[in-house]
Amino acid sequence: MDLQHKVVWVVGASSGIGAAVAREAQARGARVAITARRKPELDDVAGGAMLVLPADVTDDAAMVDCASTIEHRVGPIDVVVIAAGAWNSMDIADWDTQAFADTVQVNLIGTSNAIGAVLPSMLARRTGTIAGITSPAGYRGFPTVEAYGATKAGMLNLLEGLRAQAQPRGLHVTTIAPTAVRTRLSSASRLRLPFSIDADSAGRAICDGLERERLEITFPSRIALPIKLIRMTPVRIWPAVAERLTRDR
Ligand SMILES: NC(=O)c1ccc[n+]([C@@H]2O[C@H](COP(=O)([O-])OP(=O)(O)OC[C@H]3O[C@@H](n4cnc5c(N)ncnc54)[C@H](OP(=O)(O)O)[C@@H]3O)[C@@H](O)[C@H]2O)c1
Repeated sequence: MDLQHKVVWVVGASSGIGAAVAREAQARGARVAITARRKPELDDVAGGAMLVLPADVTDDAAMVDCASTIEHRVGPIDVVVIAAGAWNSMDIADWDTQAFADTVQVNLIGTSNAIGAVLPSMLARRTGTIAGITSPAGYRGFPTVEAYGATKAGMLNLLEGLRAQAQPRGLHVTTIAPTAVRTRLSSASRLRLPFSIDADSAGRAICDGLERERLEITFPSRIALPIKLIRMTPVRIWPAVAERLTRDR
């Protein structure tokens, strides 16, 4: 797939990876629409060259409205990149059920809302790409990362199941799992994964993967495979490994 002339909707595009994907897709000739809650930041990203639709991903009706506005003003959506994400640290001594629920709302329910907004038109046209940004934090459980990690594990599962239903109907589902990208969210997180890259490099890697119609986009490449192997670490030694990866530096 060539992104040139494609209609690309990036959800969670006011900063970080989503903003970089939007800019990169636009530079490759795509017609881009962007959504997040912070309008001034969206306007900065758009630079007057993208359709800006401020909305909260947890509001399913607002997501449907955005998809319909894009369809009418730009054209049928070819690609949706779901980058909206929230981080909340969990403390065993002060377990915050609201913070857990808020994380689930943005990362998991929000992903479902964005998918639900694009599916009817993509299914009717028998074409379209749904790409969701999950995380290696979903591969295993990390201390303080329980809320974020559970939602990212849920996204991995959701996207895999969706792919099995979508493929025979002509749709493409891509799972994006960056290891470490320097953004607002990663600086708030205690998860310290090696070989971090900047958001613009992540935007290029994601657009390359979308154009190559990859089912899975993982980067940086030198760490992607070793990170996947953490799934094989025996349960007994995992707590010590996880503690090392989340220890304050
Ligand atoms: N950075 C990493 O190392 C890394 C690694 C793996 C996966 N990821 C994933 O990559 C995605 C992007 O994160 P990032 O690192 O680029 O952090 P970021 O700069 O904080 O970006 C998060 C984006 O999500 C949007 N967002 C948050 N809550 C939202 C809501 N309720 N409704 C609509 N938009 C919402 C934010 O916009 P507003 O605040 O304006 O709404 C922002 O545009 C996330 O899903 C994250 O989990 C990041």
